[in-house]
Parts: sequence; structure tokens; C-alpha cells
Amino acid sequence: KIIVLDYGSQYNQLITRRIRDCGVFSELLSHKTTAAEIKQMNVKGIILSGGPNSVYDTDSFGIDEEIFELGIPILGICYGMQLVTHRLGGTVERAQNREYGKAGIEITAEKAKLFSSTPDNQTVWMSHGDLVKDLPTDFEVVATSKDCPIASIQNAERKIYGVQFHPEVRHTEYGNDLLKEFALDICQCKGDWTMENFIDMQTALIREKVGDKKVLLALSGGVDSSVVGVLLHKAIGDQLTCIFVDHGLLRKNEAEQVMNSLGGKFGLNIIKVDAQKRFLDKLAGVTDPEQKRKIIGNEFIYLFNDEAIKLAGEEGIGFLAQGTLYTDVIESGTETAQTIKSHHNVGGLPEEMSFQLIEPLNTLFKDEVRALGTELGMPDAIVWRQPFPGPGLGIRVLGELSEEKLEIVRESDAILREEIANAGLDRDIWQYFTVLPGIRSVGVMGDERTYDYTVGIRAITSIDGMTADFARIPWDVLQHISVRIVNEVEHVNRIVYDVTSKPPATVEWE
Ligand code: XMP
Repeated sequence: KIIVLDYGSQYNQLITRRIRDCGVFSELLSHKTTAAEIKQMNVKGIILSGGPNSVYDTDSFGIDEEIFELGIPILGICYGMQLVTHRLGGTVERAQNREYGKAGIEITAEKAKLFSSTPDNQTVWMSHGDLVKDLPTDFEVVATSKDCPIASIQNAERKIYGVQFHPEVRHTEYGNDLLKEFALDICQCKGDWTMENFIDMQTALIREKVGDKKVLLALSGGVDSSVVGVLLHKAIGDQLTCIFVDHGLLRKNEAEQVMNSLGGKFGLNIIKVDAQKRFLDKLAGVTDPEQKRKIIGNEFIYLFNDEAIKLAGEEGIGFLAQGTLYTDVIESGTETAQTIKSHHNVGGLPEEMSFQLIEPLNTLFKDEVRALGTELGMPDAIVWRQPFPGPGLGIRVLGELSEEKLEIVRESDAILREEIANAGLDRDIWQYFTVLPGIRSVGVMGDERTYDYTVGIRAITSIDGMTADFARIPWDVLQHISVRIVNEVEHVNRIVYDVTSKPPATVEWE
């Protein structure tokens, strides 16, 4: 594998991503990683990421200099290149003009390894305040640009390379070629990392870690926990028990699908907790959104814990499995990743219950999890499931819940999903659902006056749910959905489309 040492650049996640795209496993590690630790890891290449520091800042991030002596190829990017320079006998200075944006570079050395398969003039993405002024000992300049005379350096013998620009960013025209050159040619990685061998590797690791202990998983029906379930089941079979709490706030047929698909076809051992009535009772009369969320969350934890304790019996539970993704780990920075994980703890299990966490997806990005699910033979309905909030339809019926209102949302949502899929839009729209604002208005059906509910359609495009824009669904698709909902769902006589982005609105209405 190739490791990326983290110096805090906003792009460092992308570097691991691009290296993986070359078929080489890559992960981000703390810049405090030592040469001794690296020796234990079968590392074929090391990338030093960019970062906001200046090497001369008193508290700037350093490096264990033994790493330069390991003989493992090194690529310094931006701050990484300045660090190499600073530590190996060169100097770095503050640039007169901060350079930010596209720049043209020229390859000036004949044997510029990183650029051996790309043109002599190319566009790159620069973003820096400092520059290399004097080369480190025994290095040569291999590329220059107008504002940055030393844009790339190498010491081919020691296999240490540096670029001042960011090859991982799309705006760098031949960035992928450069990283590929580094990963496959310079580091001599095979480039055969695939989901298939990820599964083999993980199942072996899981078996070794778990031994003959019991593993518990809270299954939500979402992509992440479902993939964890199927992967663990493949590794340890019935040592895995899943707890699936049906709070009655799921979408149409969702509980059956989870049970039939994961419990049936895939053979997972699932304890289904039927708690529909219990949740509705607890929520009776409650109208405040935050309070609704709290009640649903607490009740979920309570029921989960209850089952977990029953299951633990005398011998206890060895492990609690979670669908933590790489982005969850990284968001907290490599330094603090460990503590963040325990906070993600779904169950909030009682303190006296001791167990270890097992998080087999914590090196994967979301799209890799989907690819993994497909490789495991899971159906598109699960693998491509859109995000769905924990409190479910409970926050899509605004105000107080009732079985009748939930039914309206459930049915209208099912029609919406069916028609979005029929229109071939299901992978383009990030999330789409219906809400019941609870207002009623006057309509006319046949010759009769009606006084019935309004259903809102919410459909958004987004990358991560943090910001969103409303989706431009074609009018005729919307019209068709509108006609179907009014005709097929009782007590609905009007449909509105939500045309706000986030911010100022949120994705969900509550
Ligand atoms: P908002 O409404 O905050 O939603 O703009 C952003 C994204 O998060 C989802 N969401 C939740 N997911 N538990 C979850 O697991 C929740 O309580 C929750 N609330 C919102 C929402 O569906 C959207 O994808």
C-alpha cells in the first residue's frame, strides 16, 4: 500500500482516493507516524500531503527524519515538498505573490520521472504561500512555472520527489498520470487492488479478530449497516446477530424487504423488534420536532440495549459492529479518529457491558461501499438506497403523528419513488421524498367539494447533505407524480413542490 501522511490539507482525502483509483490501496495516517511503524506495515510508497503550515512556523508539523532513510519512494506535495526541502538541506521562502489557481508549468529535465508519460507543457493547480528557494542537496529541478521557478524536484537515486502543485485536484491536467507514475512505476505497486480482494482480505482479518466471540450489529436497512452485515456474515456466519428495530416509521415495505433480502436470501441472523405501537404511543400528542427526534432516538436505544442484554447472556458480547466510513474517521482528523468512533456508538450500550468495536468499512468511501455491496451480490435496492433519516417518516409528518398521516406519507412516497425510477432519475437525484405539512385546503373532485391534505414533494441534489439545491425534475414527470398521488392516496387533494435550497431551508422539513 501507499500511505499518505497528513499535514492538514483540505485535499488529502482526495490523494488516497486517486491512488486507490490506480488500483493501489492507500490510506491517510498521522504525520506523527514513525519510520519504525512504517517498517511494520508493508508500505511501498509514502506521500507527504499539503498543509496550511509554513515549515518555519514554530509549531509546524514535522516528520521522523528516519523516514527519508527507509529507501521507500517519497512524494512531497506542496507543504510536503517544502518539508523535504527544509529537512534535506534546501531553503524555503515566503512567495512574493501568493499563487492560487491554474498555472502553466514546463518540464525542464529530460529524465523527469513523474512526468515521463505526459507533455512538456501542462496546466496544474497551485495553492501556496511558500516556495522552495534553494534545492535540497543532490536534488534537481524538473519543472518550473512563471511564478514558481522550482515547481517540481527529484532525487531519482533516493527516489524522493516533490511537486509544488496539487496533482490530486482535477484542475491539474495530468495529475492522475503523475500519481499513477508514482504508484505503479516508481513504487512498483501491482495495481491489482479491487473490491474482490478487499473482501478476501477483510473476511480473513475479521475471522482472526473475532475468534469465536459473538458480534452484534444494529441493522437499519441503510447501505452501510447492510453491507457490514453481509460482509460479517460471510466471514463469521451465525456468530453475528443483527438487531433490527421496526419503529413503524419506515417507508412502504421496507421492513419486509430487509427481512426477506438480508434475513432470507443472505441468511443473516436478524432479531426483528416490532415496536410500531410502542413508538406511536410514546409520540402521542408530541408536536415539537426536536422532542420527536429525542423520543425516537431514546426509545431506539432503549429497545436495542434491551435485546443486546438478553443476547449477551452469561458469556457477554465480544464485539459491536458499526458501519463507520472512512469519511467519518477522517472528518475528525487522523489524530482524533479513535475517540470520535466511540461517540458514534449507535446503541449507547450500558457502561458495564464491555465489548470492542469492529468497523470493517472504516477505510472505504461511500461509493466504494456501494461497489463492495454489489460485489457481495446485494441488490440495487439496498446498495443504491438514498439517505434516510433515523427518525424516518416521523419527521416527515409535521407536528403530531397519527397512523392515518403516516399512511399518507408512506403511500405518496412510494409513488414518488416509483415514478422517479421510471423516469430514470433515481441516481441523479440525491434524495427525494414526500412530506405532510398537515394543512388542508379546498379542492374539487368529480362534482364534489373536498377539504383534504396537501402533500409536499422534496427532491434535492447534493454531494454530502451539508448543502443542497432543489432538483430540476421535468414538469411532465412532476405532473404525472402529482396526478397519481391525488388519485391513489386517500385524503390528498393538492401537491406542492419545494423549491428551496439548503441553506436557507434544510433537507428535511423537521
Ligand atoms: P437536514 O434536514 O439536516 O438533512 O438538512 C441533511 C441530511 O441528513 C439526513 N438527516 C438525518 N439522518 N438522522 C439521520 O440519520 C437524523 O436524525 C437526520 N436528520 C436529517 C437528511 O435526510 C439529509 O440526508
